[in-house]
Amino acid sequence: MRFFKRNKTKLDEDSMKYGVALITKNDPKSAISEQYRTIRTNLKFSFMKDNFKILAVMSALPSEGKSTVSANLAVSWAEQGRKTLLIDADLRRPTVHQTFKVSNKYGISNIITSSASSVNISEMIDKTDNDYLDILTSGPIPPNPAELLESERFARLLEFLKEKYDFIILDAPPVDTVTDGQIVAAKADGVALVVPQRIARKDAVLQAVRLLNKVDANILGVIMNRFTTGETGGDYYGGYYGGYYGVNEEKE
Ligand SMILES: Nc1ncnc2c1ncn2[C@@H]1O[C@H](COP(=O)(O)OP(=O)(O)OP(=O)(O)O)[C@@H](O)[C@H]1O
Ligand SMILES: [Mg+2]
Repeated sequence: MRFFKRNKTKLDEDSMKYGVALITKNDPKSAISEQYRTIRTNLKFSFMKDNFKILAVMSALPSEGKSTVSANLAVSWAEQGRKTLLIDADLRRPTVHQTFKVSNKYGISNIITSSASSVNISEMIDKTDNDYLDILTSGPIPPNPAELLESERFARLLEFLKEKYDFIILDAPPVDTVTDGQIVAAKADGVALVVPQRIARKDAVLQAVRLLNKVDANILGVIMNRFTTGETGGDYYGGYYGGYYGVNEEKE
């Protein structure tokens, strides 16, 4: 089975404009939702064992499915009655506000850059129609995303939120293209690397792993997106989310 492709990844603007498809919410009985539950179970094991709270969903390049996977994983986790927060940590290409149809007037960028001595964070957090799922949007796109994500204030914000939630998912920026990715990965307890079958480039994935290792990110595994068991068809809407593999498993 072929997992990697060498041509250029096309930059997709749809999720920034319209949000991503929440199949776990709209079709919870589907095979895809079932795959998300499998991923959740695998993650839950390492999270509970090590008392982890923050998962960063990363990928090497843009448009590989980070926002899709993180939003659906958040829904899946919340459906189990675990207080979950989805944070849009992709300050350059945010999508969470579009996916959940809320305003992005306030979010991380305002919280971090606010000159007020204290910010009411609960006012910045949006509720969803699932009582167990809250979201924190990116806020207006700042001129200096890396600086904000590296700031002491962002670290303190995460520490504060860790006390309030069972599980926090960071929808992260791509690792290979901007330093923001490494910064976000270093702030998480664990990293799940999204690799879209036949879209991902092997050299880019290996580079992502190198960059993540450089900041001592804790790579828990790989989520194969658009995974199909056969060689034909299904690599787009027919595809489903594949298993949760150890990153050392060589697939080609
Ligand atoms: N398994 C899938 N099947 C079909 N479409 C998918 C799948 N995963 C992602 N997509 C689509 O691919 C596009 C990119 O996905 P997404 O926005 O989740 O990627 P991303 O890695 O978050 O991108 P960015 O780097 O811009 O943040 C979107 O239009 C999304 O709807
Ligand atoms: Mg995204």
